[in-house]
Amino acid sequence: MKYPKDFINKIIPGDCIDVMKQIPDGSVDLVVTSPPYNLKNSTGNGMKDGRGGKWANAALVNGYDTYDDCMPHDEYAKWQQSCLKEAMRVINDNGAIFYNHKWRVQDGLLQDRQDIVSGFPVRQIIIWRRKGGINFNAGYFLPTYEVIYLIAKKNFKLASKANAHGDVWEFMQDMNNPHPAPFPVELIERIIGSTNAEVILDPFMGSGTTAVVAKALGRKYIGIDISPEYCKMAEERIARNGKHREVEPQQQTAQMDLHYELQQVV
Ligand SMILES: C[S@@+](CC[C@H](N)C(=O)[O-])C[C@H]1O[C@@H](n2cnc3c(N)ncnc32)[C@H](O)[C@@H]1O
Repeated sequence: MKYPKDFINKIIPGDCIDVMKQIPDGSVDLVVTSPPYNLKNSTGNGMKDGRGGKWANAALVNGYDTYDDCMPHDEYAKWQQSCLKEAMRVINDNGAIFYNHKWRVQDGLLQDRQDIVSGFPVRQIIIWRRKGGINFNAGYFLPTYEVIYLIAKKNFKLASKANAHGDVWEFMQDMNNPHPAPFPVELIERIIGSTNAEVILDPFMGSGTTAVVAKALGRKYIGIDISPEYCKMAEERIARNGKHREVEPQQQTAQMDLHYELQQVV
């Protein structure tokens, strides 16, 4: 197998498409990622003007460090398709992309992400049920899940017995991460641990969750983020994790459940 030696176990500041173009064809086993959701381009009354509104408690109200998350919808969908196209090129025939996104209601109608994933080999949609959620709109039920598209090359197979996890997963969002939209460690542990992938790429690496988990599970990572600040955050987190292992599923689940219960009480 061809490995992109220069990229292995590196966090690279830059635009994900520019950087991915440098990675050789078929040299990555797995892509795990969550792009910006274009949340500030919203017909809702919250994220648009930056004052908070119904999203007052959402960390994302301040946006990302160097990216405003507000593109015209069609442009956003095309951009995401270009990202997925590059991701498809860098994975090999046993590879897959776990692409996390969120459906939402715009102008009273469901906006799923079919316009992004259409044309890609979507094999399955995994529901990530989050605890909590934010919506005070009387027109529809409180959204409590995100989706993870499993976009798979033809020979992709899960690790032995991993299919028993089913396709609805419940993990609480990470409440202790300074990044505005981090993955929960356990979600990424579930994804990576369900594969035999050796080299794992996250083109929207943010605080480095994918890298931290990949390293803890003895795999290799490649991380990209447009924000040098988030790249630094990820590097520091990876280094810290070397001393204090962050991936301790049972303990972490217990802590998260406790945190959630405390939130309910408040
Ligand atoms: C949803 S966050 C990812 C968070 C990450 N999963 C974590 O666990 O921390 C999306 C990230 O995409 C980054 N981003 C935005 N535009 C980008 C681009 N063109 N290339 C690479 N990264 C970009 C943002 O800086 C942000 O950190």
